[in-house]
Amino acid sequence: MDDFPIIRDLRKGYGEGGARVEVLEGIDVTLAEGELCALLGPSGSGKSTFLNLVGGLERPDAGTIEVDGTSLETLSDHDLNEYRHSARLRLPVLQPRGRPHDPREHRGVPVHLKGPARGGRPPALARLWEQRDKLPAQVSGSQQRCTIGRALVKKPRLLLCDEPTGALDYETSKEILELIEQVSHDYGCTTIIVTHNAAIGQMAERRLRLREGALAKNELNPSPIPAAELEW
Ligand SMILES: Nc1ncnc2c1ncn2[C@@H]1O[C@H](COP(=O)(O)OP(=O)(O)OP(=O)(O)O)[C@@H](O)[C@H]1O
Ligand SMILES: [Mg+2]
Repeated sequence: MDDFPIIRDLRKGYGEGGARVEVLEGIDVTLAEGELCALLGPSGSGKSTFLNLVGGLERPDAGTIEVDGTSLETLSDHDLNEYRHSARLRLPVLQPRGRPHDPREHRGVPVHLKGPARGGRPPALARLWEQRDKLPAQVSGSQQRCTIGRALVKKPRLLLCDEPTGALDYETSKEILELIEQVSHDYGCTTIIVTHNAAIGQMAERRLRLREGALAKNELNPSPIPAAELEW
């Protein structure tokens, strides 16, 4: 199995002078291609910052993120933008009071669903297809499902999920986690799920924990629990 991505001595801080905050102070981690990883850590420990750097949304202050022999820091803004749109897809945090879903986003998904799907159509996406005449706001978890549906069109190699179940009820959370798990396995994408929920860590093949700018834990999980069997 290839390594993807390889991260060395990753550093990132914000602000100047006395207001300067060092968020990531030298992160070294190598993920295996297709691995399902959970990234845990207290609020403010830099989980989203880490995801943004790996996804090419921000540039690090120092260190390297290597994907297929290319270090992201050597890319021009144009090429980094290409990477951002082709290599990864970020699942946004669902804001409980965010803007209403756009029905057009909903309609975009079945374009893929009608096409051939490797490994069959994931059940959670199939359910979205069955509910295609409803407005997205009437289908819980639909924003996440739409995002994943769009992601599949691009055949991403990285699936970056920032608290994908943060604002969802228990049953929907489990469905979304099952979907992420299935997509990760069927499409072979390296997947990072940022979460505060330790139970979600149990479905991961690798568990990472950020604390005070460092990777306090990087452990392989010999027996991940299928998302469907998680309880919290
Ligand atoms: N654009 C920014 N400008 C200034 N400070 C920032 C910026 N983005 C993040 N920070 C700071 O960096 C630190 C890490 O933030 P980050 O959002 O990565 O944490 P997190 O682990 O994702 O937290 P949470 O669990 O609350 O989502 C915080 O102190 C935050 O205030
Ligand atoms: Mg965050």
